[in-house]
Amino acid sequence: MDNRNGVRVVSGREEDSCPGTDRNGLSRRQALGALASAAAAAGIAGAPAAAAPKRPVAPAGPAAKKAFIDDLIARMTVDEKVGQLRLISIGPEMPHAKLVEEVAAGRIAGSFNTVVRRDNRPLQEAAVKRSRLKIPLFFAYDVVHGHRTTFPIPLGLAASFDMTVIERMARVSAIEACNDSVDMTFAPMVDISHDPRWGRTSEGFGEDPYLVSECARASVRGFQGAAPDKPDTIMAAVKHFALYGAVEGGRDYNTVDMSPLRMHQVYLPPYKAAIDAGAGGVMVALNSVNGIPATSNVWLLQDLLRKQWGFKGVTVSDHGAITELTRHGVARDNREAAKLAIKAGIDLSMADQVYLAELPGLIASGEIKMAEIDARVREVLGAKYDMGLFADPFLRMGKQEDDPADVRAEDRLHREPARAIARETIVLLENRNQTLPLKKQGTIALVGPLAESGLDILGSWSAQGVPEQAVTVRAGIEKAIEGKARLVTARGANVLDDKKVVDYLNFLNWDKPEVVQDPRPIETMIEEAVAVAREADVVIAVVGELRGMSHESSSRVSIDMPGSQRRLLQALKETGKPLVVVLMNGRPLAVGWEKDNADALLETWYTGTEGGNAIADVLFGDHNPSAKLPISFPRSVGQIPTYYNALRIGRPYTPGKPGNYTSQYFEEEQGPLYPFGFGLSFSRFSLKDLKLSATRLKRGQTLIAEATLTNEGSYDGANVVQLYIADPYASIARPVKELKGFQKLTLKPGESRVVRFEIGEEQLKFINADLRQVVENGRFDVQLGLDSHDVLVESFELV
Ligand code: BGC
Repeated sequence: MDNRNGVRVVSGREEDSCPGTDRNGLSRRQALGALASAAAAAGIAGAPAAAAPKRPVAPAGPAAKKAFIDDLIARMTVDEKVGQLRLISIGPEMPHAKLVEEVAAGRIAGSFNTVVRRDNRPLQEAAVKRSRLKIPLFFAYDVVHGHRTTFPIPLGLAASFDMTVIERMARVSAIEACNDSVDMTFAPMVDISHDPRWGRTSEGFGEDPYLVSECARASVRGFQGAAPDKPDTIMAAVKHFALYGAVEGGRDYNTVDMSPLRMHQVYLPPYKAAIDAGAGGVMVALNSVNGIPATSNVWLLQDLLRKQWGFKGVTVSDHGAITELTRHGVARDNREAAKLAIKAGIDLSMADQVYLAELPGLIASGEIKMAEIDARVREVLGAKYDMGLFADPFLRMGKQEDDPADVRAEDRLHREPARAIARETIVLLENRNQTLPLKKQGTIALVGPLAESGLDILGSWSAQGVPEQAVTVRAGIEKAIEGKARLVTARGANVLDDKKVVDYLNFLNWDKPEVVQDPRPIETMIEEAVAVAREADVVIAVVGELRGMSHESSSRVSIDMPGSQRRLLQALKETGKPLVVVLMNGRPLAVGWEKDNADALLETWYTGTEGGNAIADVLFGDHNPSAKLPISFPRSVGQIPTYYNALRIGRPYTPGKPGNYTSQYFEEEQGPLYPFGFGLSFSRFSLKDLKLSATRLKRGQTLIAEATLTNEGSYDGANVVQLYIADPYASIARPVKELKGFQKLTLKPGESRVVRFEIGEEQLKFINADLRQVVENGRFDVQLGLDSHDVLVESFELV
């Protein structure tokens, strides 16, 4: 299973598998040595046992919470305080038995990557029965797009343009995670990305601040429910604060250098949205922000997050990020790193030993004041309080006799929502001559290296998703056509042929090599696929990226279809058979050839446990696709960044007027291959008659924009009407347009419906040069469309 910490997960149990150094270059043995000597120096073992903290049954308001935590802090030793700032992953140097002892010694606040009750129970028992103060532990995990059931990757979820879909995904994921005793998730991941070279583009919700903010809110609602203190809710720690998606060149972990205007206008709103929705935690990014690493960035973590935004929850460093302050070159050594992180406001140190090793000395020397430590400890205890753990440390773990005998049991999955949700995320990009939906008859050829992969269809960060429980595209199609049509298959190509790249992907993060190459020469594989295609009435080719290609530490230098698969597609095209290309990938790909040559083109992202069924539902018309791209697709890597809401410039490219000193690349067509918000349906939809209720709008009032959506085709179907607003003249250069609303409507063939959007100052405000939120009088253009490019336009004046 996905595991970047050297932990092997077998049948739901985590076992040590790989020795050596962790990702900070710190040998885990050294780290434990430091840990042992610090413990000895602290003399924790000899401290007298204290009474168990009083455990209010339910949170009784902020005053009761404060009194409870004050009382606890007053009774804590320095070492116990330091212990409450440490979030530890089980791993080779921290095997389970050792972790239990560390917990009993009061040296750990919470653990991550232990995700089954029978592993977590002894840990919680050590905390609440054996540790001096009996402070409960919490258990965290990356529940990003599912837990036991894997849902589509976040980029796909965003394509649904349906917040009920996202909330449902998060709700079901939370229920499953709770059943495994997880209290907190490191999600949602709301890093806006304009650079598809960045592998973590797959994990976010796309390029647009409005859409990503909506997704952030829906995720928090789903994970936390009404509050994160219920047995079926988990605390959401939004990440990666901040601006991680803007790493230079799309190279993971790289620098971010950005104007304050862009930050506030584009990249920061989604984090703020999650916090406003009540997210209890914030994970701090690995990158620097304008020269100062996020982990030691006082402006970011105090001025912005705490003072300006009023965040009251817990902050968590990313994996090993405190130690990395020395590599950023802002800390001379670990001691200084720990000091900077505390002073900036990092509450929990994830997976490094520096707080443990360095904080006691820094406190003793007076370089860090006790009040500063207490402030950090207060947030951690506050999060535990909010998660309901002081009221009941076993809130989510339940009783031992109820532990599932088989953690991977089929009945622990939620297949129905997984299929329903996955169908909503599939984007129809091309459909020449109504190639889709296919008829369940004749002979269908299924080719391509991803057609039978239960692993790749899960996408990265698939938590406890099990490849063997995933429905592959082949399995989905077989079931759909059973008894009606014949299926012939061939692999046709490997995803990649470059051995170095394959070796890298096999080395990356996973507990065992993931990429299994077909050893046959590509010519032989293509010949076989062509022979199979010749037998068939239609060819379905499932191509794209291995899941590891769209992951942490998986930045690509090219976003093209890998060469082996392009060759396969070209050979299939030459057979003259109708060609349906099913894309499986976690970032925009430069699929110009596929756009021009496929008879039908489907973007399926990584659709998760029920992916194969959902894809078959679309291929055979049991579901009419309605998803839209949440991110622009560039024509080539050279066009990056390509995003729809770019700022106005003095010499914009003007279609039909090539050259002439305008902003463009001269070797390639301008504009995206597919724009933001684009996606077809089996039905034809028209949007007409945009009307505004007024041409002048007074401040404080609203006007209505309305247009008529008609289903002119012959299928029931849904479409997403998108509202964009442009502010053509303002005190600063404004985006050419900005998404300000969307509505998904389902219509019967021939049905028309009027769609209405209310527009007021909320939709017109922006951050000005003084970083103040303002609304300026003047003309605004209202655009309604079924994508960001083709829109109806009407204007009004704000007076
Ligand atoms: C990632 C985080 C993740 C953490 C814990 C880090 O490498 O950047 O997104 O939450 O590991 O698994």
